[in-house]
Amino acid sequence: MKIVRLLPAFIALPFVFASMANASEHQIPVAPDEYLKMENPYAGEADEDLLKQAGKLYKRKCKKCHGSKGDGKGSSAADLEIKPPDFSKPGYLAGIKDGQLYYIILKGGSEEAEMEAYGPGTDANLSEDDIWKLVTYIREKFAK
Ligand code: HEC
Repeated sequence: MKIVRLLPAFIALPFVFASMANASEHQIPVAPDEYLKMENPYAGEADEDLLKQAGKLYKRKCKKCHGSKGDGKGSSAADLEIKPPDFSKPGYLAGIKDGQLYYIILKGGSEEAEMEAYGPGTDANLSEDDIWKLVTYIREKFAK
């Protein structure tokens, strides 16, 4: 039976594709659906107070990698093997849901990337509220 002799090739195929994917460009993990569906409680309500508060947090904890303009060119970025994305690239943030940004800040990036988790219980221990404010700040300040 020919099909039986071909079986090992079929079984090997997914692994061949998987290794090809690994070799191609790095991807930021995609948030699970339950996060992508989340509504930002501050959407459309970014007042000066919020931006000031979140701006302080951003400067303290995020700027060294993501840069003061959100372009991913912070002072530490040169040393990173996996570079932060350019939030200010035209259309970049428009194509990303708030729930995705929230998820990565809460849980961190991929294993290979030095984007740590900032949510409750981590070293940074930011509240979920702080994280939504950061999401709002990133969108208000850097989206083009
Ligand atoms: C040590 C450098 C570093 C610091 C500090 C850092 N990040 Fe990141 N960030 C990265 C890298 C690198 C990635 C890409 C992660 C990946 O590829 O998995 C990333 C990814 C992200 C993303 C995902 C964007 C997307 O397209 O899905 C968001 C949002 C983000 N960071 C926000 C923040 C915020 C907010 C802070 C501060 C609380 C912060 N980061 C601190 C390096 C950093």
